[in-house]
Amino acid sequence: MDNSIANKKLEGKIAIVTGGASGIGEGTARLFAKHGAKVVIADIQEEKGRSVAESIGVGCTFITCNVSDEKQVQSLVRSTVEIHGRLDIMFSNAGIFSSDDSLQGILGFNLDSLDKIMSINARGSAACVKHAAEAMVEGGVKGKIICTGSSVTTLGAPNHIDYAMSKHALLGLVKCASVGLGKYGIRVNCVTPGIVATPLFEKSLKMSVEQSEKMFESFSCLKNVGPQKSSHIADAVLFLASDDSQFVTGQNLVVDGGFRPPLF
Ligand SMILES: NC(=O)c1ccc[n+]([C@@H]2O[C@H](COP(=O)([O-])OP(=O)(O)OC[C@H]3O[C@@H](n4cnc5c(N)ncnc54)[C@H](O)[C@@H]3O)[C@@H](O)[C@H]2O)c1
Repeated sequence: MDNSIANKKLEGKIAIVTGGASGIGEGTARLFAKHGAKVVIADIQEEKGRSVAESIGVGCTFITCNVSDEKQVQSLVRSTVEIHGRLDIMFSNAGIFSSDDSLQGILGFNLDSLDKIMSINARGSAACVKHAAEAMVEGGVKGKIICTGSSVTTLGAPNHIDYAMSKHALLGLVKCASVGLGKYGIRVNCVTPGIVATPLFEKSLKMSVEQSEKMFESFSCLKNVGPQKSSHIADAVLFLASDDSQFVTGQNLVVDGGFRPPLF
């Protein structure tokens, strides 16, 4: 990968990106590396994760980690600190969408699917924030923690309640952690995408990337700029991970082109 870029914003920083094997996480891992960070990609997709790490090149490694297992998250953070000596940035981004592709509403709400999604999107993120924060405090690092929310982080929706609940919980985590970690100079924020055509939605929508992007583009107020891409989110995460956002904490940065889907 060509890492030549002027004004590197993360030179020498050590970053973990969960869910970095695909989609928004992959795009952000690549941008972090371009800006001089040493990135540890953590994901359950071993083959893809390793191949992304290899293509990024020097300084980028892959560690298998299922974020719903706290011990694996603890080990991910410990290994990162052992290898690189510190942890500066945690991008807690791994997440799943509702497993049930029917339009799940409150009537007939599948609580087993709720448990699964909460264990990854909410509990998994809590483990990532907790262990990253502990390593940062122990190392005296004024770190940055960023979590990936969703347009349903603050809105109600008639369906996919399990997903909406998990992302509401995530914002609660960000708000509370930002308050608790402020005294250590650690900043905690959330980034909220509109809709990006990643594998997350491919399965449930059963559409090609082009078809999905065309549909998602029509949901955005912002016209003539093309569909939302992972790179738009990566740019916002870079902002939150760098000194460009020195006084920003406890926020939910919405990057959605004025997302107004018919659903809401
Ligand atoms: N794509 C969108 O439009 C969109 C919109 C709002 C929010 N999000 C959020 O963005 C984040 C990234 O999603 P994406 O769109 O890039 O999807 P994606 O499916 O391309 O990437 C998600 C990654 O997370 C990994 N993952 C899933 N469960 C995991 C686990 N238990 N432990 C570790 N890794 C795990 C997957 O293997 C995958 O590589 C998610 O939190 C998602 O909720 C996406």
